[in-house]
Amino acid sequence: MIKPRVLGFWAILLCLTGCQPALPAPVAVSEPEHFAKILYPEDNPTTIEGLALGKQLFYDPILSVDSTISCSSCHLPELAFTDGRSVSVGINGRIGKRNSPGLANIGYLHQTLFWDGRADDLETQALHPVADPNEMGGSWPLLISKLRRNENYWPAFQRTFGLIEIRELTPDHVGKALAQFQRSLISSDSKYDRVERGEADFTEVEKLGHAIFFDLADEPDPEFHGLPTGECAHCHIPPHFTNQRFFNNGLDEALLLEDFKDIGRALVTGSVYDNGTFRTPGLRNVALTAPYMHDGRFNTLKEVISHYNSGGQYAENRNANIFKLGLSPDQEGALVAFLHTLTDSSFVNNADYHQ
Ligand code: HEC
Ligand code: HEC
Repeated sequence: MIKPRVLGFWAILLCLTGCQPALPAPVAVSEPEHFAKILYPEDNPTTIEGLALGKQLFYDPILSVDSTISCSSCHLPELAFTDGRSVSVGINGRIGKRNSPGLANIGYLHQTLFWDGRADDLETQALHPVADPNEMGGSWPLLISKLRRNENYWPAFQRTFGLIEIRELTPDHVGKALAQFQRSLISSDSKYDRVERGEADFTEVEKLGHAIFFDLADEPDPEFHGLPTGECAHCHIPPHFTNQRFFNNGLDEALLLEDFKDIGRALVTGSVYDNGTFRTPGLRNVALTAPYMHDGRFNTLKEVISHYNSGGQYAENRNANIFKLGLSPDQEGALVAFLHTLTDSSFVNNADYHQ
């Protein structure tokens, strides 16, 4: 067995004679034609080595302080990388305050991450859960020293990022590898996609739901004249069904803007008008990602739709597209049927994503 330090010594010796550690070549991750391209950061192209390392880290409880919890504890592939709980549970059963979001097509969300948008990209996002006391509860210096001493991880980091000495291994490399794996989580083969590609047809009910979802008050659907508008696609814009912006969708009554229990986006911006606003979540595989909303308050899609149909609760900053819709029970059911067409079983069963 070669000790990491010894390896570092030989590498330095070699480099004194003029060599540079070779970096692995970037690989092209195949992307569906009907999606805009993923913007890969220049300093973190995806490589075979990085993908494999990122996947291993994602499933490894070594990332938590007591080695009990991995990223996958709260982001399970079979649930489209959510955890089925209203709010997540971290080390020692500690209860978090937010619902675990799915990670399908997460590489396409180029604007901000988290419900409140507090991380700018996947590389830096990954630094949060490791140190969050309600999640993995660890400290980065401790984790880095564990990884530097690890006979499996140190050589993998070395190969992936061209490192020579163990002290060069930093949290950034962990974030980069996890980001590479997460950018590979692409869902593009739901029934909705197949209909878009002309390979399948919606049922009558799904078609009705589709029309309500995309029907915006200013552009009534000519085919379904007189249908109540759903207004959904103002915010849930395809192909990922999010505009990545922050809204209040009327979940809680707030007579004053100060009344929100979780102020959401305002934690980042400091503006009281952002109190109680959250990033529009993408809806791919939404039938698998219950419970719903930032705090997981709704258990079923039916409950979500009756919330929207009711127009929600009063708040000064509730978005203008949230109002009493006037959908009949059949029309509510049609919206739910349409949301089910966003389920992509080839995504949840993809062996490349599983441990
Ligand atoms: C204890 C459960 C838990 C663990 C462990 C956990 N997460 Fe999460 N994850 C969450 C929750 C809850 C959120 C939403 C938090 C928020 O927005 O405030 C989240 C958010 C995210 C997001 C942002 C998604 C989006 O749509 O913006 C990504 C990406 C992510 N996690 C990846 C990871 C990675 C990588 C790891 C391992 C290093 C990890 N998570 C570990 C529960 C967890
Ligand atoms: C004004 C923008 C806006 C409109 C219009 C809108 N949504 Fe949303 N949607 C959001 C936001 C923001 C959230 C998250 C709110 C929160 O958790 O505080 C959300 C959450 C959801 C969720 C929960 C997803 C999850 O993973 O938890 C579903 C499902 C959903 N919306 C479907 C719909 C449907 C169907 C319509 C139309 C009837 C609709 N939305 C209209 C912005 C909007």
